[in-house]
Amino acid sequence: MPGLLLGDIVPDFQADTTIGNIKFHEFLGDSWGILFSHPRDYTPVCTTELGRAAKLAPEFKKRGVKMIALSIDSVPDHLGWCKDINSYNSDEPTETLPFPIIADPKRDLAVKLGMLDPDEKDNDGMPVTARCVFIIGPDKKMKLSFLYPATTGRNFDEILRVIDSLQLTAKHSVATPVDWKSGDRVMVPPNVSEEQASKLFTCGVVTKDLPSGKNYLRYTEQPK
Ligand code: BEZ
Repeated sequence: MPGLLLGDIVPDFQADTTIGNIKFHEFLGDSWGILFSHPRDYTPVCTTELGRAAKLAPEFKKRGVKMIALSIDSVPDHLGWCKDINSYNSDEPTETLPFPIIADPKRDLAVKLGMLDPDEKDNDGMPVTARCVFIIGPDKKMKLSFLYPATTGRNFDEILRVIDSLQLTAKHSVATPVDWKSGDRVMVPPNVSEEQASKLFTCGVVTKDLPSGKNYLRYTEQPK
């Protein structure tokens, strides 16, 4: 089954989680959302990732992004693992994280959402979940996805960086260049004419001279 593509509606589903049974679209409401999957509970890389995600929860909240994780074990396993994750973070070893973890013991959701890693099997020879990141817009459409194998941990600074770009470019006719960080200059996209650009970007547009003379490399300040 092909995975979800950019612009696809991320399907609604009902699932058991560490905060009870949820309906995914209802959980997201009108917010942006991030769904990140994990190969399984009580594994080293996942523990570091979920620890970092918990520490960064205020940053996701500031951006209006609802967080939710998924792993193929049961809710009781997730709750026990949460204690380890909090302890790894040097916090009280409670069963609470700032986001729920979906239980997907039969891998129904992992299959539905195209999240399985065929190279990484559990002790029963069943494929585990890859490290997917789905960033979902308020319209429930997939705005960005990463797909990492189980053996490679993600970079949550990069996840926040792309959310900043997605939210900025959803609101303004700009694009963000290589290694952009919030506050840096942005680019005027090719579909904005020179006339439109001078109206839209009153702070000015700087065009870089290039041998082609095509005037397509245009910078402006990040809109407020
Ligand atoms: C981990 O989270 O450490 C992990 C999980 C599955 C395969 C390899 C690493």
